[in-house]
Order: sequence, then structure tokens, then C-alpha cells
Amino acid sequence: MRPLRGSVRPPGDKSISHRALLLGAIAEGTTTVTGILDSADVRSSAGCLAALGRPARGDWTGTLTIEGGPLLAPAGPLDCGNSGTTMRLLTGLLAGWPLEATLVGDASLSRRPMERVAAPLRSMGAKVELAPGGTAPVRVAGGALAGIEHRTVVASAQVKSALLLAGLRARGATRLREPARSRDHTERLLRAMGVRLEEAGGLLTLEGGQRLRARAIDVPADPSSAAFLLVASLLVPGSDVRVTGVGLNPTRTGILDALAAFGAEVEVTTTSGPEAVEPSGTIRAVAPRGLRAADLGGELVLRAIDEVPILGVLAAFAAGRTTIRDAAELRVKESDRLAVLARGLRRLGVTVEERPDGLVVEGDPERTLAGGVTLETESDHRLAMAFGVAALRAAAPPTIEDPTCVEVSYRPFWSDLARLSNS
Ligand code: S3P
Repeated sequence: MRPLRGSVRPPGDKSISHRALLLGAIAEGTTTVTGILDSADVRSSAGCLAALGRPARGDWTGTLTIEGGPLLAPAGPLDCGNSGTTMRLLTGLLAGWPLEATLVGDASLSRRPMERVAAPLRSMGAKVELAPGGTAPVRVAGGALAGIEHRTVVASAQVKSALLLAGLRARGATRLREPARSRDHTERLLRAMGVRLEEAGGLLTLEGGQRLRARAIDVPADPSSAAFLLVASLLVPGSDVRVTGVGLNPTRTGILDALAAFGAEVEVTTTSGPEAVEPSGTIRAVAPRGLRAADLGGELVLRAIDEVPILGVLAAFAAGRTTIRDAAELRVKESDRLAVLARGLRRLGVTVEERPDGLVVEGDPERTLAGGVTLETESDHRLAMAFGVAALRAAAPPTIEDPTCVEVSYRPFWSDLARLSNS
């Protein structure tokens, strides 16, 4: 086991990258985006917007621009690929435009629930049709909308954002309440683009008919991608890894609280200024002497929802029994992440109990994971990366199925991990 050392700036934040393009497409003027994530998912959003007459131009590794304007009827189906964010946010965006569109996705996305977005959009006046199981293809016929008051059933930033995007073109106010506060990137960006959005006592209020002003958007690195490198550093003795430029939005930093609950000390330095739309900074993780089991649930899990797979791997090395609760949403992500994670950990020799809303993982700081096993990922990027980190503590390298699926969110993941191990 070679210690991991060095500093990495993970790629741009996936959630913010989608939003930069979608909001830029309807703003007045030209939005410039730096630090955008170049990944399959964000390319899906860009591809759909191009088909709607709003192409992004320029350099994905430098500055990308998108000129705002009307959305035009697409010539064919809009391909959202593997990206739930693209499909849900775009459905909301299209609901207020007088055009018809069909949104399709890959096999994984075509199994995911869309009724949670479709139902409230219908009550705003849009026509949204789904396949019989409440899944894609999503057929939207948009037009004149009226604001609604709606309480979302699940705390989902994708649903909230879809309704805010529809609400921008609705008559009257759209009022939203969530069971718990999901990530607030859409709200931050809307405000930064000149939209008035009120929030009081957990109620979000958006007056319809507001215009967005194009602006420069600088996307911080994705804390969900950084999480894999941080946990790798915590698992391999002698490691000392810094991730830089990482988003520190409090609705996303559940990972930091979770690591603290395991007894890991991570150092966080905010480097962004007070005017930044999204705070960001450096996180340093030094391999600790020992980790203890944690009890993770409630709002912490919501603020770390995409990090549960890698936290499950960490739990296998924390002394005692770790419980992860309130994570039932993981069953309807790119895969059933609780099931696929539990299966993989068991293959690696870890005792795991699967519950409807979480996992119980028996941890042992001294353990070596079983070598040479085959780990199914169901082509889910976050599982491939979680197992890639687990592999650092295996007796012999496992075979990780479809390792290139990491391109959905973190194209250079394997090379970044290798570089940290070899420096
Ligand atoms: C996202 C919201 C979350 C998250 C997903 C990205 C977003 O999904 O898991 O990776 O960008 O709004 P839900 O809205 O389904 O909780």
C-alpha cells in the first residue's frame, strides 16, 4: 500500500455546471462559464440545449459561453443520457415554453421516477406525459403556466429546481416547501442573475415573469468528486492529500460532518471571497491512527446523499458497527446504490446488513479486503469510484465492471488516483 500524497483540483461541480448552462440559455445576454465540468452528464445538458437552439460555444477546459434567448422546438427527441439532473431540470424549463419535446435517457435513467416532477408541473398547467411506470420518455407540451403552492414529497433539489425554472415563466407566484432543505445551487444562481427569490420559514417564493441577467459564472470543484480522494487518503496509512478549489456550500458539506463523526480530522480552509456565489476552498485529509463507527442519518445524509457509497467503504474500516439511515432515495439513483454497494462490500469480505433506507456495516480498521474479486457497478459512476478506493485496501486488485462509467462525473478519476499513489 503506497501512501497517497499531493494536491488535486477535482473537476467542476456537476450540479452547478448543469445549472450554469440551463440558466445561461434563458438569460438576457451572454453567460460565460469557467471551471465547468466536462463530463458525459453535463455534455447531455449541453446537447439538449443545442437541440433547443441554444448551443454552448468555446472551450470546455477554458471558457464556455452560452447566449440566452428563446427555446426553439427540437427536431427530434432530447437525449439526456444517464443524467437525471438534465431530464428533471429540463422538463421544468420546457414547461413554460410553447413547444413540444420528448426527453429520453439511457436504460438506467429510463427506470428513474419522473412523476415527482411531472405531477406539480401538470398542476401549473403544463402537459407532461410519462411511460406507464411514471418514467421516461417524458413528453412535455409547454405553454402558459400559473404559479402553485407545492410541498415536495421528497427533499430533492432536482424537483425544486424544475419547479423554480417553470415558475420563472408562470403567472403569479410559485411557493415551494421541502421536507428538508436540499442543495440550493439553483437559488444562489438565480439570485446572482438578478432574480428576486424570497425564503422565509422554509417557504421559497418566486414571482413569475422575472428576467435573468447573463453573468460570469465560475464553477468550483465538486465536493462529491473530492470525497473519493479524501476517503482514499484516510484509508491508506501515511497519506496526506489536499483537494483544492472545492465547493463548500453548506447544503453539500455533509461529507465533512460524516468524516468528523468517524473521528477523521480534516482541515478546511475557505479561499473564496465574501462575494462568491458559491463558497470554495481547500480540504486536507491526513490518514488517521484509527476510525470509529458512526451513526449517520437525517439532514446530514441529505447533505451527503451522493457520498453514501464512499462513506459505506470508509465504514468497513471504522471500528464497530456503522449505521446509515434515511437514505432510501439511493434506491432510485443511477442504480439501487444500497443494493449494489452492499453486494460489492460483501464480495470484498465485509459483513453488511441491507435495510430499506440504509445499511449497517461491520468495520475493522485492520482488515484487508478480499483480493481478485469481481465487483458489479451497474455502470454507476459513484459505485465504480467507491470500489476503486476500496481496492487500495484489497489483498489483490478487484475487477471493477465498466470502469469508464466514471466519465459521467469525473473523467480523470483513475489517473488522479494513480498520480496521488505514485507521488
Ligand atoms: C442533484 C440533486 C440530487 C443529487 C444529484 C444531483 C442536483 O438528486 O443526488 O446527484 O443537481 O440537483 P435529487 O434531487 O434526486 O435528490
